[in-house]
Amino acid sequence: MTSRHRITLLPGDGIGPEIMAVARQLLDAVSRRHQLELVYDEQPIGGAAIDVSGEPLPAATLEACRASDAVLLAAIGSPQYDSLPRPQRPETGLLGLRGGLGLFANLRPVKTVPALIGASTLRPEVISGVDLLVVRELTGGIYFGTPKGRVQAAGEERAFNTMAYSSSEIDRIARVGFDLARGRRGRLCSVDKANVLDVSQLWRERVVALHTADYGDVELSHLYVDNAAMQLVRAPRQFDVLLTGNLFGDILSDEAAMLTGSIGMLPSASLGSDGPGLFEPIHGSAPDIAGQDRANPLAMVLSAAMLLRVGLKQEAAAADLEAAVDRVLEAGYRTGDLMAEGCSLVGCQAMGEQLLQALES
Ligand code: IPM
Ligand code: MG
Repeated sequence: MTSRHRITLLPGDGIGPEIMAVARQLLDAVSRRHQLELVYDEQPIGGAAIDVSGEPLPAATLEACRASDAVLLAAIGSPQYDSLPRPQRPETGLLGLRGGLGLFANLRPVKTVPALIGASTLRPEVISGVDLLVVRELTGGIYFGTPKGRVQAAGEERAFNTMAYSSSEIDRIARVGFDLARGRRGRLCSVDKANVLDVSQLWRERVVALHTADYGDVELSHLYVDNAAMQLVRAPRQFDVLLTGNLFGDILSDEAAMLTGSIGMLPSASLGSDGPGLFEPIHGSAPDIAGQDRANPLAMVLSAAMLLRVGLKQEAAAADLEAAVDRVLEAGYRTGDLMAEGCSLVGCQAMGEQLLQALES
């Protein structure tokens, strides 16, 4: 019996359309093999949406996402929109989508790929065997806090944002972190800046209280964010699940991405308490290489795999896609960001073709 799923595709800006085209071919191929019927609805977001409608998240795009079973996003943003007022910037569209779908939990798995161990700027003995998960709060903190803005005060301009969390916001993301730790190696490290920030003090108190009440079986530790940044490059194997607020998770997940060799390797899932999840690579739109067939589509393909596993509960299809990625890397195919001596340099499309072959083999 075929199972039918509606997927909203959001190619967005920069390299987005190129890597989305590869992901779509792979999704088609893998769904044929696993008797899935995927029905796509492609919608504009970010700069691409500004071009056609004047706004980065048209109501029709948000509606289409709400009506689907899962959302696949490539990337948003391009320098040509950077001088627009904030409500009209591509990033505002992405934040509106996260907020609009209530996607408070962002999961960013970071796992060393043996074939890429030489591609990282860090030494192999430091990064081999890394397998960690960043659980980032995604709809609160300083990204969404009020008051915020810019004012004229005492003859000069002042700008400000607010980092705020309520206890219920902390509890629900902490529960996600604890639950995921239980299914992994049972260790959760909560990241904060409780030595300086009131918001972090509340964060730490709530995490400790939840641990005492419901998660005594999980090994809990705490790190200040500055120390966490250092530990990630000093001894990354110590981490299992890293629990962070919105801003700290944004910063630490880019840093953690380098443990895999390239930021072009990291997928992510953003989930709410109900409704469709959003699946996207953590890298950006790379406008400098857009349209040149040089982008690395692997994080995009791995995001499609996460969509299959987490969004549609299709474990076997997800594992097939991931195995195809492993196989092309083992066979030595590399996009420019991962290129190493003795490997074969391929563009985005050719990488897609290799992935298709690996999937069918
Ligand atoms: C990310 C990105 C976004 C963020 C930007 C594009 C708004 O950096 O998903 O990590 O800051 O959350
Ligand atoms: Mg980021």
